[in-house]
Amino acid sequence: MDSIHIYGGNLLRGETKIQGSKNAVLPILAATLLIKGTCVIRNCPRIADVYHMQNLLQELGCPVSWAGNTVTVNASRVCDNRMSGESVTRMRSSIMLLGAMLGRMGEAVMSYPGGCVIGRRPIDIHLAALRKMGVEIVEEDQMFTARALHLQGTEERLPFPSVGATENVILAAVLADGMTVLENAAKEPEITALCDFLVEAGADIEGIGSGRLMIKGVDKLHEVKYTVPADRIVAGTYMTAAMAAGGSIFLEHAPAGQLGALLKAAQEMGCCVTLNKEGIGIDVLRRLHALPYLRTEVYDGFPTDLQSPMMVVLALAEGEGIVEENIFENRFRVVDGLRKMGADIETVKNKAYIRGVEKLKGTMVEAEELRGGAALVVAGLAAEGRTMIKNRHFIERGYENICKDLRELGADISIG
Ligand code: UD1
Repeated sequence: MDSIHIYGGNLLRGETKIQGSKNAVLPILAATLLIKGTCVIRNCPRIADVYHMQNLLQELGCPVSWAGNTVTVNASRVCDNRMSGESVTRMRSSIMLLGAMLGRMGEAVMSYPGGCVIGRRPIDIHLAALRKMGVEIVEEDQMFTARALHLQGTEERLPFPSVGATENVILAAVLADGMTVLENAAKEPEITALCDFLVEAGADIEGIGSGRLMIKGVDKLHEVKYTVPADRIVAGTYMTAAMAAGGSIFLEHAPAGQLGALLKAAQEMGCCVTLNKEGIGIDVLRRLHALPYLRTEVYDGFPTDLQSPMMVVLALAEGEGIVEENIFENRFRVVDGLRKMGADIETVKNKAYIRGVEKLKGTMVEAEELRGGAALVVAGLAAEGRTMIKNRHFIERGYENICKDLRELGADISIG
């Protein structure tokens, strides 16, 4: 039936373990193409986007196998350089294969990548950055060909600290000739994870975690075993669930150091947050008060991926708040569903004006994309009565088992 059913209104109580990070593992799986041998990736989430990446690696001739949450990729041989079909067009992160294939094969032919319907999501910054490294790109209708007889390190500055473009430059630069200096690089924790993986494999990268990366090309990389860090967005989503529904929960492995902006917002709204090296505890014992203004920003500002779940929290808080979306232009698609559940939200351009209501009511709503879908789950947990969310598959692109996790936190939720 591709749906999720929730009987809302329960306070959340209990603890759950946070899965491995989707946005970290996808570029890391692409990076395995740079290594002539076998890589073992532990704590890999079993989610649809990872399966798309697995299909793409297999189509390129690299066997991929699973044991629990451990994935083994054997990229001893890469037999093809053509990437098209559903796995590319369905998933934005397929673009990571571009930098990796250029590093490995010097050539890639691919369809334009897809992903969530949250905005235009062009790849012009990726292509311009790679051109500076000596890559020739011929664009056609649905496909493009990228070729580099000689990948050359370079000094360049991104016009915007794009996460994907930063990852592609890193992937192309680690085996290029000479030094690449990338200014205005993205600083998201997923970039750090990719760099850590590559350094363990023998890459020479300095400035990790900063906006200035220095990547000295090496002759080759070696086999590596790596454990994917916990998913900050999944942890953040479950925090917003407690903020909306109330209760006391503990999120094991939640990366507190990467969630500063959400933790600050939670405390300002009246939550009691406890942090230790095992994870994050959050107690929400009364109705929260609104945050007057919240804007999404690049790391370490408030993440765009938590904007929709946070709107649900504000929809139930006491008072009025404004949310300004600055990363993607089409990220208020969930508002219609939330209004249907009783939220009082108006949007004008990239701002949402939210007046807190005392209750949401369960009804039938449709997920249209990943994080908006997760926001509907958060709303369903807090709402009175039964919520049915259609199009569960969007949510499963990023959450390994959202129903099981939330049941561990006391929710009445199941797939239908
Ligand atoms: C973005 C988010 C990332 C999030 C991911 C999945 C930021 C900065 N990036 O990463 O945190 O986890 O979505 O939801 O928060 N852009 C261009 N041309 C390009 C590349 C990007 O115009 O070549 C624009 C995009 O349209 C968008 C913005 O730059 O408005 C952010 O893009 P980017 O960081 O590249 O997106 P993702 O890598 O998908």
